[in-house]
Amino acid sequence: MGRRGRRAAVAAVVVVLSSMVAGGVLAATRSDDESALAPTRQAADQGIERKVDKLLRKMTVDEKLQQVQLLSDGQITDADAKAGVGGVFSLTDPAKIDHFQHIAVEQSRLHIPILFAYDTIHGYRTVFPIPLGAASSFDPSVATADDTIAARETATVGIKQIYSPMVDVSHEPRWGRIAEGGGEDPYLGSVFAAARVKAAQGDDYSAPDKVVTSVKHLAAYGQPEGGREYNTTDMSEQRLRNLYLPPFKAAIDAGSDTAMCSFNAISGVPGCANHETETDILKHEWAFDGFVESDYTAVAELRACPPKNPDEGPCGHGVAADGPDAAQAALNAGTDMEMVSTNIRDFGKQLLAQHRISMARLDDAVRRILRIKFRAGLFDHPYVDQAKATDPASFVTASDRAAARGAAAKSMVLLKNDGGALPLDPAKSTAVIGPLGDDQHDMLGPWWGQGKDEDAVSLLTGIKAQASGAVSFAQGCTIADKEPPNNTPADECGSDAGFDAAVAAAQGADQVVLALGESRGQSGEAASRSEIDLPGLQQELIDRIKATGKPFVVVLFNGRPLTLSKVDAAAPAILEAWFPGIEAGNAVADVLFGKVNPGGKLPVTFPRALGQVPIYYNHEPTGRPCDVNSKYNSRYRDLPSCDPLYPFGYGLSYTTFKVDNLNLDKSSVSRKGTVKVTFDVTNTGARAGDDVAQLYIHDPVASISQPVRRLRGFQRVTLDPGKSTTVSFNLDASDFGFYDNRGRFVVEPGRIDVYAGDSSTADLTKSFVVTG
Ligand code: BGC
Repeated sequence: MGRRGRRAAVAAVVVVLSSMVAGGVLAATRSDDESALAPTRQAADQGIERKVDKLLRKMTVDEKLQQVQLLSDGQITDADAKAGVGGVFSLTDPAKIDHFQHIAVEQSRLHIPILFAYDTIHGYRTVFPIPLGAASSFDPSVATADDTIAARETATVGIKQIYSPMVDVSHEPRWGRIAEGGGEDPYLGSVFAAARVKAAQGDDYSAPDKVVTSVKHLAAYGQPEGGREYNTTDMSEQRLRNLYLPPFKAAIDAGSDTAMCSFNAISGVPGCANHETETDILKHEWAFDGFVESDYTAVAELRACPPKNPDEGPCGHGVAADGPDAAQAALNAGTDMEMVSTNIRDFGKQLLAQHRISMARLDDAVRRILRIKFRAGLFDHPYVDQAKATDPASFVTASDRAAARGAAAKSMVLLKNDGGALPLDPAKSTAVIGPLGDDQHDMLGPWWGQGKDEDAVSLLTGIKAQASGAVSFAQGCTIADKEPPNNTPADECGSDAGFDAAVAAAQGADQVVLALGESRGQSGEAASRSEIDLPGLQQELIDRIKATGKPFVVVLFNGRPLTLSKVDAAAPAILEAWFPGIEAGNAVADVLFGKVNPGGKLPVTFPRALGQVPIYYNHEPTGRPCDVNSKYNSRYRDLPSCDPLYPFGYGLSYTTFKVDNLNLDKSSVSRKGTVKVTFDVTNTGARAGDDVAQLYIHDPVASISQPVRRLRGFQRVTLDPGKSTTVSFNLDASDFGFYDNRGRFVVEPGRIDVYAGDSSTADLTKSFVVTG
C-alpha cells in the first residue's frame, strides 16, 4: 500500500470491471490506456465547471478552508453558516436545516449553500431490512425499492447527501457492522451497491426526490483484526483489489459522486491518509471527480496519543505528530472534507505558508465539493419545502409499507425445515414465545435512521393479523437494547425466571413460534462480539420448549451470522429473518403461514464454531486441503468438518428445485471474447417458489492461487410447480481475469471451470479454455 507511481505501471493493462446486473454481466468496458478511461462528467457539463471556477476565483483562503469543513448537528452554529461551512450531517429537523441554509445563502459572502447529509442506510422513516438482509434476497430490486423511498424521504427534509451505500465486504461475523453491508462476496456486493446508487441518485440527483450517495468506507474496513471494531487490517494488494474494492468501483461506475474514507489502517496506512486508495485508485484510476469526506474525527485520529492539544479530539494512529501534521497527511492523501474534527480548517493557512500543502490541492478539494453542490441543484433550490417536510403524508405511505413488507419477506432465508415443519397452519392455536416475540424497537436494526418504534409491526401483531386460531404470547426472557456497562445479564436473556410461563404457553398451544436473536444494539457500529452464539440463555429456552414435545419453529432476528450448531441440532425449522424493518411482523407472518414462499440465500457464511472465523466460500486453496481424517492437513482437531454450518448462497424453500442442462456456447475463447453460459432451473415440488440460479467460476492454474469458487452471476427466478426456466450469463475477461499483487489486472490463458447451481456448493460443472 501507499506505493506511489503505480499508475504508470498499471496503465497498459487496466481493464475496467464490468457493469453488472443480476443475471450476469451485461457489458464490460475496457481500456488499454488510462487516458482513454471514460470521460468524466465534467466534459458533459461545462456549464457547471465554469460556475465552479468562477466561484473558486472569488474565494478567500478562509472561505476555502470553511468549504472543506463538515460539522455535526451538535456543532453547527449560525457563525459557521455565515462563514460558509461546507457541510452539516445528522441534522434532520427541516426547520433547523432551513434556518442554517438561509444564513449560508443569504448572509455568507459568496452565498454558497450547505450540503446537508445523513446516514440513510436502510431507510429514513420507512425502515427496510438491514443491508445484509437485503443482500440475502439476491434481488437488487429490493435495494432499488429501499433507496428510492429512502432518497425521497431524506430529500424531503432538505438533506441532499446520504452516507450510503456501505459496501464493505466482510468475512468477520464478530464485527457488528457486517449488518450494514452486502456480505462476503464482491460480486453480489457490487450488484447491490450499483442498485442502491442508481435508485438514490436517479439520472439527476438535483431532482427533489433524489440525493447524492457517498460510498463507504474506503477501504477494507470490513476486515478488522480479531473482528474488533475500528481495528487495523493488513492485506495483500490482490486481496484488496479482488475482494474489497469491486463494490466501490461498481458504486462509482453507477454514479456515486461522493465517498467516505475509513477509520482503519490498511497495512499501516489509515484510510483518510491513504494516497493509494483515495487518490491513485479512486480519483486517478477510476476517474472519480466528486469529493471524499473523512469519517467521524478520522483526521484527528491520525495523530499520535496523547495529542499535544487534547481539545482537538481523539488520536491514535500515530502517522501524524499533531493537528497540522494530520491535516497535511489527510489533504495530501486525497481527503477533501474533514468530518467533526477541524484540523484542515484550523491549520490550513499555516500549512500553505509552510508549503506543506499546496493551493492547487486545496482548490482541487474545494472544486470537487462545489461541483457536487451544483450537481445537487443546491444553488437553484437551497431551501426546504416546509409544508411537504412536515406533512406526515410525505413519509411511510401505504405503498412504502407494502414495498418494505415485500422486501423483508424476500430477504428471509429458510435455514432448516425438517419434515415440512413450515409453513404453519394459521387455523391452529399458536404460542409466540421469546424475547423478540413482541418487539418493535429491535426490528428496525442498527441504522434505524428516523424510523420510529411505533411504526414497526411486532411479530406477535403480524401473527395475530393472519392467524385464525388463538394466539398467545410469553416473552420467556428479556433482550433490552442497552449499552455496556449499563446492561445487566438479564438484558441479554440472562434470567430463566420467565421460562416456566413460556413452557406453559407452549403446552397450551398447537404450535410454537420461538422469536430469538440479538438486540439491535448488539449489531452495527461499535458492536463487535467475542462470541456469536445466541446471547444469554436463549439456547436453554429452545431446549425447554423442545422438551414440551410441541411442534416449534425458530425465527431469528439478528445482524450477523451466528454460530447455530446447537440451534440446528435442536430445532426442526429455522427462519433467518435478520432485522426486517418496519414491516417485520407482517413479513415474517407472510412466510410462516406460507403466503410467501421463502427464497432468500445467505450472502455470508455461517460457521459451525467461532474458531473457524474467518470462513468464507471464496477462499484460496492450500497445499494441504482439508481432510478431517488426516493429521497433516488443514483442519481443526476438534471439529468433525471444515465446512461451515450453512454455506454462502444457501437457502431452502417450501418447494424443491433442480438445476441441470449446463451449457457453454464455446469450449475456448480469446482474452477478448465472451462465453455464454446457460442452464435450467426447474421447480420439482408442489408449490410456486423462488430459487436463485448461481454461476461460479474457478481458475485451477494461475500465477497466484485463485479462489476455489467465485460468484460471477445470479438470477432470482419465480417458478410454478413443474415449470422450468433457462437462465443465461455472459463471462468475459472481467470475470476470468484477476488482480495480481502489483495491482495489475491480468488475464491468463488456461482452463476455467464453471459451476452452476443454487448455492456455493454447486457441483454441476463444465470448462472452457482461455487462449493466449
Ligand atoms: C460511521 C460512519 C457514519 C458517520 C456519520 C461514523 O461513526 O463510521 O459510517 O457515516 O459516523 O454518522
